[in-house]
Amino acid sequence: DQAEREAGKRAAARAAAADVPHGARVGLGTGSTVAHLLPALAERNLDLRCVATSPATEEAALALGLRVEPFSALDRLDVAIDGADQVDHEAWLVKGGGGAHTREKVVAVAAARFVVIVSDDKLVERISGPVPLELLDFGLPATLRRLAHAAVRDAPRSPDGGVIADLGPAGTIADPAALSAWLAATPGVVEHGLFPPALVDEVVVGGPGGVRRWAV
Ligand code: A5P
Repeated sequence: DQAEREAGKRAAARAAAADVPHGARVGLGTGSTVAHLLPALAERNLDLRCVATSPATEEAALALGLRVEPFSALDRLDVAIDGADQVDHEAWLVKGGGGAHTREKVVAVAAARFVVIVSDDKLVERISGPVPLELLDFGLPATLRRLAHAAVRDAPRSPDGGVIADLGPAGTIADPAALSAWLAATPGVVEHGLFPPALVDEVVVGGPGGVRRWAV
């Protein structure tokens, strides 16, 4: 149920926060799981240098007294910690339920370690669509036509002005690598919400039985 999921998110977030070393440069993800991470980091007083993947995270982090710097001030990070919408058995992720996947991916690849924090209900055998997209506004109808199964989400634009959309159909993604490559090669697609296992260093899973850590 909802309370159990929330407890799982919190446990995973706190376990990940416990590993962050003093003075680290930390990428902060976005979402309800990261909302548990921020106070856990703040209360450790680690003198961190943080970058945020969304205005919501930035605002929450600042309110807790964390130091948030513009991502133009740092060219690499020691660790990035973020939630996910789905994590499959190979550690393919679907992200972007909150529309923040572009900045999340830029931050994740800049980090020496990318740690994913989830409640155990996010674990799936195989990831499935729809896949969140960020699209360039220019030529939007032509890009949507080319994508064939994408629908613009009823959501605000990204902080970078991108249009948030979702690529259907719902259902298992047979070949996430092929779909990623096709989306990456489609002009007008700024970024998509498929994150490959190669990007993931660790998945921290919180559930009724406690926290499980999976080194990818
Ligand atoms: C934001 O766009 C997403 O990628 C989030 O990281 C993802 O949706 C996980 O969010 P929750 O922690 O709220 O489930």
